[in-house]
Amino acid sequence: MSLLIKNGQVVTATDSFVGDIHCQGETIVALGRDLAVPADATVIDATGKLVFPGFIDPHVHIYLPFMGTYAKDTYDSASRAALVGGTTTLIEMVCPGRAEDPVQAYHQWKAKAEGTSACDFAFHMGVTRFDESTPAAMREIVADGTASFKVFLAYKGALGVDDDELYQTLKLAKELGVIVTAHCENESLVAKLQAELLASGKTGPEWHEPSRPVQVETEGVRHLMTFAELTGAHVYVVHTSCKGAVHAATEARLRGVNAWVETVIPYLVLDDTAAQRGPATGHADFEGAKFVMSPPIRAARHQPFLWDALRSRAVSTVATDHAPFDFQGQKEMGRGDFTKIPNGIPSVEHRIRLLYTHGVATGRIDLNTFVDAASTQAAKLFGLFPRKGTIAVGADADLVVYDPGVEETLSAETHLMATDYDAFEGWRVQGRCEAVTVRGEVMVRDGKFVGQLGHGQFLKRQPTHF
Ligand code: URP
Ligand code: ZN
Ligand code: ZN
Ligand code: ZN
Repeated sequence: MSLLIKNGQVVTATDSFVGDIHCQGETIVALGRDLAVPADATVIDATGKLVFPGFIDPHVHIYLPFMGTYAKDTYDSASRAALVGGTTTLIEMVCPGRAEDPVQAYHQWKAKAEGTSACDFAFHMGVTRFDESTPAAMREIVADGTASFKVFLAYKGALGVDDDELYQTLKLAKELGVIVTAHCENESLVAKLQAELLASGKTGPEWHEPSRPVQVETEGVRHLMTFAELTGAHVYVVHTSCKGAVHAATEARLRGVNAWVETVIPYLVLDDTAAQRGPATGHADFEGAKFVMSPPIRAARHQPFLWDALRSRAVSTVATDHAPFDFQGQKEMGRGDFTKIPNGIPSVEHRIRLLYTHGVATGRIDLNTFVDAASTQAAKLFGLFPRKGTIAVGADADLVVYDPGVEETLSAETHLMATDYDAFEGWRVQGRCEAVTVRGEVMVRDGKFVGQLGHGQFLKRQPTHF
């Protein structure tokens, strides 16, 4: 099986050149100008188009029992949605309840993807409890190729760990050489603020942000940094939404803490007026619930800061935190009590086109930064590089041919994600993923999914953060 992508503008995190990419089987075997066309080759003409390495979304939820319900997607819907949006690798958070056996949960999560996913996949193992049995369980999971953990310093009484557990998790991670991804919010403050707001009759989705203000997130990041500094563990702050949180991590980096920062696409393009939508602002009743996620979507003034942080690389990655809940029946569980609105925004399908439209096309970030933040950095941090995250001889033939000349409108009527609403309904985006390949196989053509479910492979990773 031979594939030749001809005459595109090939963009990596560091380079850009016009040329051809020859893939043999699952691998890129040659890069250059005017490469000879092998007789058996499938040829994709990329003249006038951009060719990117397959994008990696390092923070998604697909199977997620959460807040009294389950996230809507399966690997069938989510991997097809990811692929038409240019994402060829998903890294999903395994989130067992505190009472669950972690090894069993890990295999349960993995089984949902194996044989179904159309794109490649890996996991961050959620450590939601730490007791005497945890080290052996985590060693087993790391030995299986899942070389990163996830902790929640939020969701008190559900997924959250206490300080004792956090300390032990980071010590173990340091010993095993795995990076710890962390949701940082001070859960005690969240609980207090939620209770105060509800007691004063403030029950709508617009009160979600005030219940988890920037100080709560910033404190969570500082807290993690203190523990990372003491243990020497490598940490990755997920879904950073505001200036204070990025500053807290950056200050720690400057004093030698091994810390990296993720933001997610909703924070770059949405602001707090979204969760305030309702009849008073000319929108449908309870519309704001569609935009409830944690940490919350912030005031618009944080957006230019996040773009600058991305450009300066203080923020390493742009993920989605894809967490899909329907508006009907699921978000509605929180009518009359915003603390019961399932948290999350579906966006795995739209990340790349929104980042291109609002980042590259507006000149906020250049093409190399775009590729770095949406693919290369995730590959490097999570032990997938250089197999994934770049276009190079020997790398997996995961490629995205992007036509920047096409404009389309996002809508729940056309998206492949399983939710009944689209947070970006009616938004225009510039560009379309014309062709997408996963290990040499064409999965998307003319922007449509044409691949096989089950083509996706579990990506085994080695510990790299000693
Ligand atoms: O609101 C969010 N972010 N939902 C998904 C769970 C998490 O915290 O990542
Ligand atoms: Zn989170
Ligand atoms: Zn603290
Ligand atoms: Zn998440």
